[in-house]
Amino acid sequence: MKRVVCQDSYLISRRDLKNGYLTLTFGPFSRSSSIKPGHFVHIDLPGSNLYFRRAFSVYSVNVKEKSIEIFLKVIGRGSRYLAQLKKGDRVNMLGPVGTPFKLPRKNQSALMVAGGVGLPPILFMTRWMIKRGRKPENIVFVYGGRSAEDIIERSIIKRLGVRFLPVTEDGSYGEKELVTAPLARSLSSGLLKDPVIYACGPESMLRAVDHLATEFETPGQLAFEAPMPCGFGICLGCVIPLRSGGFARVCREGPILPVGRVSWA
Ligand SMILES: Cc1cc2nc3c(=O)[nH]c(=O)nc-3n(C[C@H](O)[C@H](O)[C@H](O)COP(=O)(O)OP(=O)(O)OC[C@H]3O[C@@H](n4cnc5c(N)ncnc54)[C@H](O)[C@@H]3O)c2cc1C
Ligand code: FES
Repeated sequence: MKRVVCQDSYLISRRDLKNGYLTLTFGPFSRSSSIKPGHFVHIDLPGSNLYFRRAFSVYSVNVKEKSIEIFLKVIGRGSRYLAQLKKGDRVNMLGPVGTPFKLPRKNQSALMVAGGVGLPPILFMTRWMIKRGRKPENIVFVYGGRSAEDIIERSIIKRLGVRFLPVTEDGSYGEKELVTAPLARSLSSGLLKDPVIYACGPESMLRAVDHLATEFETPGQLAFEAPMPCGFGICLGCVIPLRSGGFARVCREGPILPVGRVSWA
């Protein structure tokens, strides 16, 4: 069984990006070598007066340094607290939590779909696939946000050599459309060999991606978010309903679930 650890970890470095986005690197994290894309860490913030931990997808891992990087946007109390941490400040990390993405087969093409702050597991998975021999030319990377300010890490994505399709709601960067438009075009073009979809973003985006995947009979894996009180499968605070009846715990059976599994009603 996968071993989850709960340990103190310290801020090693930070990158302040635009529009309230930033990355934070914490270490040591003894299980860094077992982390895969889609895993997340559940972070306790000592001194913050916040009762519940906050979940963050792992964005990158440095196994040698035993550190992990997270990518976040300042939204509310927890993310604001994290954003003001200084080098050497302590947090407590529970992880790696959840069921990660599965790699596509060698000859499959991949359609990566990131919406807003859904970027971290999608970019991590893209780098992971390329490191494991998947060809960048077989990867389409669709990334959407409200405006240009929400399309972060562009140079990193471009350097990967994937087919980068940025879109914004106001047209200030890339096409003026939602991520589902280039996704639908890619699926209907018939040019992609045996495609598989990977998506993370707001619930409305995941729902639309799920419907498109079903319509085009394309397999895929969706990364879900939910309120996450305990993070280890006990409280049932993170459940989402399934089409087959019953529920999945986002912290255990998720956060990655196959397309066609969730009931959106
Ligand atoms: C499995 C998982 C992975 C996650 N990965 C990431 C990640 O990589 N990067 C990241 O930035 N966040 C991620 N989140 C969300 C993160 O855990 C927090 O919910 C988020 O940072 C807001 O917390 P907060 O304490 O700042 O806001 P709170 O004070 O808890 O909430 C403030 C307000 O923001 C709203 N809100 C809460 N979460 C979100 C959200 N995700 N989007 C929009 N509004 C929201 C609340 O409804 C509330 O109105 C993830 C969540 C889960 C469950
Ligand atoms: S957060 Fe408690 S069961 Fe998932």
